Amino acid sequence: MADLNQQAASRIEALVDLDRYPLADPDARARIVADARAAFADTGAALLPGFLRSEAVAAMAAEALRLLPVAYRRDHMLTAYGQSAEDWMEPDHPVRRTAPYRMWVTATDQMDPAGPTLAVYDWQPLTDLVRDILGLPALYRVADPLMRCNFTILRDGDAHGWHFDGNDFVVSLLLQKPEEGGLFEYAPGIRSGRDENYDGVRAVMDDTPGLTRFQDVAPGTLVLFRGRQALHRVTPVRGARPRVIALLSYDERPEQVWGPDSHRRVFGRTVGEPAVVCV
Ligand SMILES: [Fe+2]
Repeated sequence: MADLNQQAASRIEALVDLDRYPLADPDARARIVADARAAFADTGAALLPGFLRSEAVAAMAAEALRLLPVAYRRDHMLTAYGQSAEDWMEPDHPVRRTAPYRMWVTATDQMDPAGPTLAVYDWQPLTDLVRDILGLPALYRVADPLMRCNFTILRDGDAHGWHFDGNDFVVSLLLQKPEEGGLFEYAPGIRSGRDENYDGVRAVMDDTPGLTRFQDVAPGTLVLFRGRQALHRVTPVRGARPRVIALLSYDERPEQVWGPDSHRRVFGRTVGEPAVVCV
């Protein structure tokens, strides 16, 4: 058992840059958490650049791109709000506008269970770190066999248009940047629980200058983002090299799973069904 634990520890040591992020050192960890918490509270985003070692980034990106032939194609025009418009809203009201949602998505059961990406996702100290940065009393990796951890791959012309997230936070690892585009652009705090600020949202959607920020993220960065009140998008990708991220799913309740309808919406299939080949 001690040997197995040691093997797992040295595996993680090769993947996560524990020299830069010495999470086993209580004082260093407390500083890492405090800095990330402050950034998250201030801007709704916390970035831990260089969290992954460069060899790990390359191995994970390669794993994602190997799965591209069995990835599911999502190509829709979606609204930013995920809710129906009300009668009074004019035809180009922000709630009615649609934007492209174009990307390739892979499910967890397609990933190598002994590969680097799931090794990092299943590393308990990472879950504990995310929990503490978010300031939550408890946090669990989800139990869903398809949704635990996913790659999203944006190729030339793909994009994820303006939207608000329905969940409180998203945790991701950027694994590969495209040649051009694929930038994460956001308008922090553009709305609140009390004020939808449709005029402000409309101005962002109309590309009014000066209203947004770009998150300059290098591959290997761990990103925590709160997108419920921040309008955000990934600008269209240009060039031959795809944009690749790993999405890590967590929940405040243990053993979270989703049903076949959610699986089919995201992956075109549910557990035990063969991949829908879209290439
Ligand atoms: Fe989002």
